[in-house]
Amino acid sequence: MEKIATKDIGKFSHHYPKLAAIITASSGGKENAMTAAWHSSISINPPIYGISISPKRFTYQLISQSKEFGINFIPFEKAHLAASVGGTSGQKIDKFQKLNILKENPIKTGVPLLKDAYASYECKLLDSKIYGDHVWVVGEIVAVHFQEGIFTGNGILDLGKVKPLLYLGSEFYATADKDSLNFITRRI
Ligand SMILES: Cc1cc2nc3c(=O)[nH]c(=O)nc-3n(C[C@H](O)[C@H](O)[C@H](O)COP(=O)(O)O)c2cc1C
Repeated sequence: MEKIATKDIGKFSHHYPKLAAIITASSGGKENAMTAAWHSSISINPPIYGISISPKRFTYQLISQSKEFGINFIPFEKAHLAASVGGTSGQKIDKFQKLNILKENPIKTGVPLLKDAYASYECKLLDSKIYGDHVWVVGEIVAVHFQEGIFTGNGILDLGKVKPLLYLGSEFYATADKDSLNFITRRI
C-alpha cells in the first residue's frame, strides 16, 4: 500500500485511538470535570502521571489553584459522559449537578472522583510546563481506586468485564474487542 509523506502537518491525529478519561478538580468550593484523551503514565516508582491540558480549560485553573487533580477511567457505556463533560465548560455551570454525575470520596486529596469510573487516580501536582498551546501537567499518584475483580492478578484489565473507552477523534468513540486479546511473549 502506498504511503503519503508530507511536511504539511496540519491538525495531526494519526496516533489515535486514545483512551478517553475524565479529569476532576476542585478549588475554592468549586468542583469540575473535563474529558482528556492526551494523558500518560510517566514513572512507576514513584508513581507519576501526566495530562496535557489547554490553559483555557476551567479545570486547568482549578488544578493550578489546588495543586491536585483526579483522573477517572470510565467504561464505553459511559461515552456520553465523556462527550458532555468534554463539550461544556465548568466556568459557568456545575457539570456534576447539571449532568447528574455521581461522586465518590477521595482518600488523600480534595478532588471529586467519579462513581462511574472503573478506576481513578488521585494526584498531587509535581510540575507543569507549557508546550505550544497545551500545558503538560504532571502529578504524583497518591491514591488508586479500582473496581474489585476487573483486573487480573498481573494488573491486566479483563475485557470480558470492562469495555475501555477509546476515542478516535472528532465525535467518534469505540472499544477494544475482547476476542482480539492475544498473549505474545517478548522473547525473540
Ligand atoms: C474526547 C475528548 C477528549 C479531549 N481531550 C482533551 C485533552 O486531552 N486536553 C484538553 O485540554 N482538552 C481536551 N478535551 C476538551 C475539554 O474536555 C473541553 O474543552 C472541556 O469543555 C473543558 O472543560 P472545562 O473548561 O470545564 O475545564 C477533550 C474533549 C473530548 C470530548
